[in-house]
Amino acid sequence: MSISTTKGTVYFIGAGPGDPDLITVRGRALIERCPVCLFAGSLVPRVIVSCAPAGAVVRNSASMHLDAIVALMTEASAEGKDVARVHSGDPSLYGAIAEQMRRLDECEVPYEVVPGVSSYQAAAAALKIELTPAGKNQSVILTRAAGRTGVPEVDDLAALGSHGTGMALFLSADQMVEVVTALQPRYGPEAPVVVAYRVGWPDQQFLRCSLAEVAAQMANAGITRTALIFIGPMVDGAPALESHLYNKSYSHLFRKGASADESALEPEADTMVEFDSP
Ligand SMILES: C[S@@+](CC[C@H](N)C(=O)[O-])C[C@H]1O[C@@H](n2cnc3c(N)ncnc32)[C@H](O)[C@@H]1O
Repeated sequence: MSISTTKGTVYFIGAGPGDPDLITVRGRALIERCPVCLFAGSLVPRVIVSCAPAGAVVRNSASMHLDAIVALMTEASAEGKDVARVHSGDPSLYGAIAEQMRRLDECEVPYEVVPGVSSYQAAAAALKIELTPAGKNQSVILTRAAGRTGVPEVDDLAALGSHGTGMALFLSADQMVEVVTALQPRYGPEAPVVVAYRVGWPDQQFLRCSLAEVAAQMANAGITRTALIFIGPMVDGAPALESHLYNKSYSHLFRKGASADESALEPEADTMVEFDSP
């Protein structure tokens, strides 16, 4: 290993859900120029890193443990080489980047994070739904069933489900019986569910059913992983209300309502509505 005086930087890059053109421009440009690329191959298709420069070291981290991953990144950095560390979706969600960043901090390796399109966002886009439709749930709980890793007590699924708002479940496809048991008391057996399987991959698939049916439907379809599960009013298929934002009589900072007077154009600072707020 040749030691460089300038350390290379590790870039944690969100690759998006799988579609090669759903990575950010910044993320792709970094993969194109980094001499070392380490990608989470269980969820990031190889084609996404095929733009790495000629001669780059490209490794799939799926079979590597944390020590080996950190060793590869710190050695490259010590040689002055930048590293593209490519994770699925957005790295801030279930990306296990916290532990990598902590180790890099200990080794004084510089790093940056480049966001990506999360699978829940890609699923909503593919389904052409709004996750916070006017008049329906105005919150979405992003969570997961406990699984092998476990979750803190405050994240108990039944307790979160007691809100009855929108929910997007990651990493839970193999625990649907437990999910249904936890959520059915509040949502009821007829609650609408959409399962989005491998969004952005050639074999993507969507199932629409009720909460009572979902475990059996997923088992029939052979879906035990890489699925995002939406539960709640936002997937009930019923028309949403119209928001204030584009209502012609509603005034806000950037538009005067049809029947509003001039003062509506200059609201007090504390009554200002942010652009795009309904
Ligand atoms: C380790 S987590 C990574 C999540 C990722 N960081 C994100 O923002 O989507 C893996 C889980 O994310 C969801 N997931 C990731 N990619 C997906 C895809 N293409 N389609 C559906 N769900 C996906 C599934 O719930 C899967 O079990």
